[in-house]
Amino acid sequence: MARILSKEISEYVGKDIELSGWVNVVRAHGKVLFLDLRDRSGIVQLVFIPSNKELYSAAAELRPEWVISVSGTVNKRPNGMVNLNIANGELEILVSHIHIEAKAKTTPIDVGGDGHEIGEESRMKYRYLDLRRGRMQKNLRSRATFIQTMRELLVGHDFAEIETPVLTRSTPEGARDYLVPSRTEKGKFYALPQSPQQYKQLLMVAGYERYFQVARCFRDEDTRGDRQPEFTQFDIEMSFIEESELMNLMEEVVVKTIEKTFPNKKFAKRFEIMNYADVMAKYNSDKPDLRQDKNDPNELAFLWVIHFPLFEKSEAENRLVSMHHPFTAPETNDIPLLDTDPSKVMARAYDLVLNGYEVGGGSIRINNRELQEKVFETLKIPKEIYEAQFGHLLEALEYGAPAHGGIALGLDRFLSILLNEPNIREVIAFPKTGDGRDLMMDAPSQVSKDQLDELGLKINIKQ
Ligand code: AMO
Repeated sequence: MARILSKEISEYVGKDIELSGWVNVVRAHGKVLFLDLRDRSGIVQLVFIPSNKELYSAAAELRPEWVISVSGTVNKRPNGMVNLNIANGELEILVSHIHIEAKAKTTPIDVGGDGHEIGEESRMKYRYLDLRRGRMQKNLRSRATFIQTMRELLVGHDFAEIETPVLTRSTPEGARDYLVPSRTEKGKFYALPQSPQQYKQLLMVAGYERYFQVARCFRDEDTRGDRQPEFTQFDIEMSFIEESELMNLMEEVVVKTIEKTFPNKKFAKRFEIMNYADVMAKYNSDKPDLRQDKNDPNELAFLWVIHFPLFEKSEAENRLVSMHHPFTAPETNDIPLLDTDPSKVMARAYDLVLNGYEVGGGSIRINNRELQEKVFETLKIPKEIYEAQFGHLLEALEYGAPAHGGIALGLDRFLSILLNEPNIREVIAFPKTGDGRDLMMDAPSQVSKDQLDELGLKINIKQ
């Protein structure tokens, strides 16, 4: 007999089947012993009656979280025992044989409830147990379906999924880099990408025209509810487009993905669009929450914010810095202002806002060397620095760079809103704690002297 899943038992009423999974709950009801068995598809009730003495006493030994396989018959529950509020609530399994696959110690955290009452430290240290709970199973499975749906839609629009390196050099997205020392070139470092920004632009120069990637990004900044040091973007780039084409296509893909994966959500299928200046004047925020009823868990209010300034003033450094990143194209009519009044130059950039959070951002890019250099100069980046850091990109722009632009959706943020989770940790399998640690793996951690020697590094901690 082959194993079936708990969600399939209704197809086998009156028949013998085999199930495997974890003991969810054990309870005695008079003399009859009931046990809920949990597998990846749900829960099913197992029944043991005292007349089968040997089996009954074996079942009485079972404890929560033991892994078992059972064979038995699928029966309709007696009338008084039917529970129409749960899946499989009309059925139960009269067990004829149990096999214990693995015993389990009493778990240090409860895995039955939604886990809200358990401290972060314990949940993160025993994340593999925490992930067993129904809420986390639902969150991670919804995430997988969401990614798969969006992936299929983009492939349907002729996008190619292309991976880009994680060991690379610094690309500015406004955060601190994570650095990885090189063994072969002692004293030199890779940087982990804050986003695949330069690579995706170079893929446009390389003629791929439509790229996407479920890309891991790394930013060494303080962790918050909507921010992790390591997070995932649905990263997209297209050639031969203008803002409206990209925004329309994204809207279509986002709407269809939500309709398929979260059918209960209510939202306008055409997203609102507002200028940055108007949105700031009206809401004093560039990511206002435009929901009618903020208590409705199924309401979504999307907003495109467009027409951002290209630069903003950095008070700390007393110079202009890019509001998005330095590869963002200025409005064509504003290009002369780069020489005369750069703070007035507007950007061809757009942000996607959902329920008060920035869930995506992107722009049309600069695709010629002169303009890119001009922007670096306006940012007061010395020529030798931008040549050293971005020489490859500047050079690429001289070999036939198409008009191009793109966007990155913050996947974790997007999903936490769709799943009504207050923290993006709840939609990431193995997130970092508030202070950036992985408590389960105990990372970051010390490394051996041999490893340091191989890298030519000596630790000299300055406090
Ligand atoms: P940006 O920096 O705006 O753009 O990032 C895009 C989206 O990623 C999400 N995000 C984060 N999510 C979780 N934790 C973080 N630390 C974090 N930082 C950002 C946000 C944000 O809207 N390369 C450009 C995109 C482009 O121009 O195409 C970029 O990375 O939801």
